[in-house]
Amino acid sequence: MEAVLAACRAALVRPGPVIALTGAGVSAESGIPTFRGKEGYWTIGARDYHPQELATQAAFRAMPWEVWAWYLYRRSVCRRAQPNAGHHALARLALELPDRFALVTQNVDGLHRRAGSPDAQTFPIHGDISLMRCAADCVLDRWLIPDAVPDLAKGDAVAAPVQALLVCPRCGGMARPHVLWFDESYDEPRFHLDTVRRLARGAALVVIAGTSAQTTLPWHVVQLAASAGATLVDVNLEDNPFGDLAAGSGGVIRGPAADALTAIAAALI
Ligand code: OAD
Repeated sequence: MEAVLAACRAALVRPGPVIALTGAGVSAESGIPTFRGKEGYWTIGARDYHPQELATQAAFRAMPWEVWAWYLYRRSVCRRAQPNAGHHALARLALELPDRFALVTQNVDGLHRRAGSPDAQTFPIHGDISLMRCAADCVLDRWLIPDAVPDLAKGDAVAAPVQALLVCPRCGGMARPHVLWFDESYDEPRFHLDTVRRLARGAALVVIAGTSAQTTLPWHVVQLAASAGATLVDVNLEDNPFGDLAAGSGGVIRGPAADALTAIAAALI
């Protein structure tokens, strides 16, 4: 751990953004199941679905209310969860390094925001589970899912009066969760594609935490940063492809994200 903290401090001497790139593992200690962990499965009828099968436009087209039920259940889990020490450490870092810290998160749970990470320095590249938008994309706007939409337990269906609330306020058509699905592409207006690429190109340090490295934009961020000479650090319980890159750079911490991010933030402040 000490060598990694020293590498983080050394990276600060160079100019350029300090990026934290977070994934589901950062919220695991807040009780939110990770995407690819065992607790993520979802039963519809006689079939068990993996989140990766449900998080698609194709699934939404075929069974919109079953997909909404899954997202409203996950939204309930996120609403009940509290930010942990890792989220708080990154929020502190943003406030202490206002001109150079950027948080790029794959998490849709809103815990970084609730821990105090400022919107101007936070880039949720996979959306936000508390928001909805027009399923027909009639407009770019996102809206908070109405408060009257109740928390759902696992397996609950979306009742007709709730379905009536999940509509686009502009065109009145069906709304959808504001999350990026597997059969969709990143863009700037909704998912900060150009912004995070630009930040990565000049980065001095990228602290990667709690992600299994399965999605494309995080890969681009890390590779662009590495090509620009950034120091890479990986925090995860397990080995993963980002760890392989970080091992030849700033190093890896194999342990819980909350402790590791607290230590890294303390070293950088
Ligand atoms: P995954 O569920 O794929 O990976 C979670 C990672 O966190 C794993 O590598 C675990 O080893 C690690 N982990 C678990 N608990 C941890 C802890 N307490 N401390 C540190 N590490 C821990 O989640 P993501 O990589 O975030 O995208 O998944 C990326 C994206 O895949 C998600 O945002 C989602 C999904 O497709 C979309 O919905 C577009």
